[in-house]
Amino acid sequence: MQSPWIRFGGAAVGTVIFLNLVLKPKTFRTVMIGLGVGLTIGSTITYINSLRHHSLTAKYVPIGITGPQANFHEIQPQIYNHLSQEYEERGELELGEEHITVKPNVFAQIGVLDIGGVRTMWTKEIVPSIKNSIQKELLAASNTSDTNVESEIVFCDIGSGVGNICLQVLAETNCKKTVGVEIIPSRHKAAQTAFANAQKMFPSIYRGKNALWVEKDLVQCASTLKKEGVNVLFSHSWMFDDDLMRQFTKVITEVPSIACVITSRKLDNHLLQSTPLKLHSLAHFSADWNDKAPFYVYTRSSS
Ligand SMILES: C[S@@+](CC[C@H](N)C(=O)[O-])C[C@H]1O[C@@H](n2cnc3c(N)ncnc32)[C@H](O)[C@@H]1O
Repeated sequence: MQSPWIRFGGAAVGTVIFLNLVLKPKTFRTVMIGLGVGLTIGSTITYINSLRHHSLTAKYVPIGITGPQANFHEIQPQIYNHLSQEYEERGELELGEEHITVKPNVFAQIGVLDIGGVRTMWTKEIVPSIKNSIQKELLAASNTSDTNVESEIVFCDIGSGVGNICLQVLAETNCKKTVGVEIIPSRHKAAQTAFANAQKMFPSIYRGKNALWVEKDLVQCASTLKKEGVNVLFSHSWMFDDDLMRQFTKVITEVPSIACVITSRKLDNHLLQSTPLKLHSLAHFSADWNDKAPFYVYTRSSS
């Protein structure tokens, strides 16, 4: 078998002879100069790159700011193996739960942020916002380093479904406590089971982590959020109606520890005036229904 270099050389010489025959002398000269310059630049770049000690291969970067912890892509399928295909196909509802979906304040449609979406939300919105707004109080008081900002976050998902976001945040970041508020009982139970599985299957990742699940209508959760010291609130609230968004905003006004809110639907401007929260930006995260699902980000500072 011929060496690839001999074959490559043969092809190159053949091409030059062919071009010499078919092109006019002036055109042939221009093409050859172009090829020569391209070859020189290309091989110089390749040589310089081979001297460098890093590779350009894409690597998994954990969403936490404090170093690698876990990859939820590997964890999720294992801790959710209790969800049957029929349950998922029914839209994450048990038979017999249909009547709940038509009760006032219940918007049971599923729509989930995907793993990449949660990572973008955490790194691009939540951590910077907490640094901006509560860093001064927390860090000045305790002289805590930047890397501990995450561990000061008590993250709450309003309408937490089967608990995917809370469990990803606990696995992949330094956040130690999450609260999931969910009105559909089977989703609440599925989240509890997933957390129990997570603690059993991945003890080193979930050690010292606390996922609290609250089976309630969100309009009744202010006292729990206050008691748990929630400071970051997320809601995939795209289907909530205006009245529920007003009640949601009222809950926020009753929890002074909240420093950042991320919600698909806007909060009630009028009610929000009694809080230090201001609309900061419109962000986009990938979800199962939209690669760029829009979310409003409210923070304590508007900058
Ligand atoms: C679009 S899903 C979000 C699921 C998950 N948080 C995510 O983004 O990956 C909205 C969730 O809110 C819940 N929900 C709807 N109305 C509610 C209410 N009044 N109180 C609490 N949860 C509610 C639904 O049952 C559903 O699980």
